[in-house]
Amino acid sequence: MKYLRQLKLSQLKNKTCLLRVDLNIESPGKDAFRLQAILPTIKFLIKNGAKVVILSHRGRPKINLKSSPCGRSREARQISSLKNFSLKPFAGILSQLLGKPVRFIDFRNEFRASKIHKIITITRDSIFLLENLRFLPEEEKNDSRFAKFLASLGDIYINDAFAVSHRENASVEAITKFLPSYAGFLLEKEIENLDAVIKKSKKPLVVILGGAKVSDKIGLINNFLKSADYFLIGGAMANTFFALQGLPVGDSFYEKTRIDEKITREITRKIILPIDTVLYKRKILDIGPETAKKYNEIIQKAETIIWNGPMGMFEDKKFAKGTEVIAAAVFKNKKAKIVIGGGETIASLKLTTKNRNLFLSTGGGAMLEYLAGEKLPGIEALKNN
Ligand code: 3PG
Repeated sequence: MKYLRQLKLSQLKNKTCLLRVDLNIESPGKDAFRLQAILPTIKFLIKNGAKVVILSHRGRPKINLKSSPCGRSREARQISSLKNFSLKPFAGILSQLLGKPVRFIDFRNEFRASKIHKIITITRDSIFLLENLRFLPEEEKNDSRFAKFLASLGDIYINDAFAVSHRENASVEAITKFLPSYAGFLLEKEIENLDAVIKKSKKPLVVILGGAKVSDKIGLINNFLKSADYFLIGGAMANTFFALQGLPVGDSFYEKTRIDEKITREITRKIILPIDTVLYKRKILDIGPETAKKYNEIIQKAETIIWNGPMGMFEDKKFAKGTEVIAAAVFKNKKAKIVIGGGETIASLKLTTKNRNLFLSTGGGAMLEYLAGEKLPGIEALKNN
């Protein structure tokens, strides 16, 4: 795999870099975590004389279009009421963060490659942001012609979007077939930190898992079943384990899923379930204080900690205590190498990155898949470039 830091600076001068990032952020003004994470790469490219065309998706807009790649502006214009998915608000925010104008290009108006190319080359601006690529169905179809169209806008492709590297999308995978392609600083940092906990973790290794579904995390549990000392379970996924053991869960959410015996055998050994919970209207919505205390004791002994998913329905203050106590416990442990992910959920806990052993991953699903030992199409494509 080629890394951006290996490029000779002269190779960047007067070049246009297509930079894939992940701006899949629900509240543009509020959540700066993913935005902050991509700034070093953008600043580096600009400083070294390159123009940057930022590519991203946002959300999962439903598009019912029969548009052709690089297709017809008329068809592209049919996309309406997709305002909440637009990347437009990010142009202003990025511009503020970078102290430079960021020109927004809405390909629904300026869809022809030649026209966009002209805007990029003739204007004095150096940073451009294309509208949400998922406004075109070709993006998620990993369409080659669409990837070629995107590639025609630049000279170099950089993937700094770890969080979407598990998706076989045109701007993540297919595009690498048409341009020299590199991993950006953020992608490199993600790989380095996640590899460190997979391959070189010091023991005891404690994996804290929360959130709604066990099924999302089965791969990770399997991959760490041997190396981890404890899995501390919270969130609605604990209900699935309770139900498996025939324990009552009231009206709580749980999955009627089959779980490998290899995993269920570890319940009460490596897999630790809550011993008390917070109930509301017959629903389990948080871990209880005794559980938090027990988890804290285990966390303080850890040399490596991986955390994905909240311990309860933390969006509601009444059920945020479990997650807050676990966050405080994790931060109290100054000796452990800590990797926390789960997209905006954990990031919104306002965790500080001052602890130098801490790595906050921008990945949600991507982090889970990477830690499950799966090959991510975006990363594999860079390796094959
Ligand atoms: C994420 O937020 O996890 C990524 O942006 C991927 O989004 P997706 O699950 O909609 O592909």
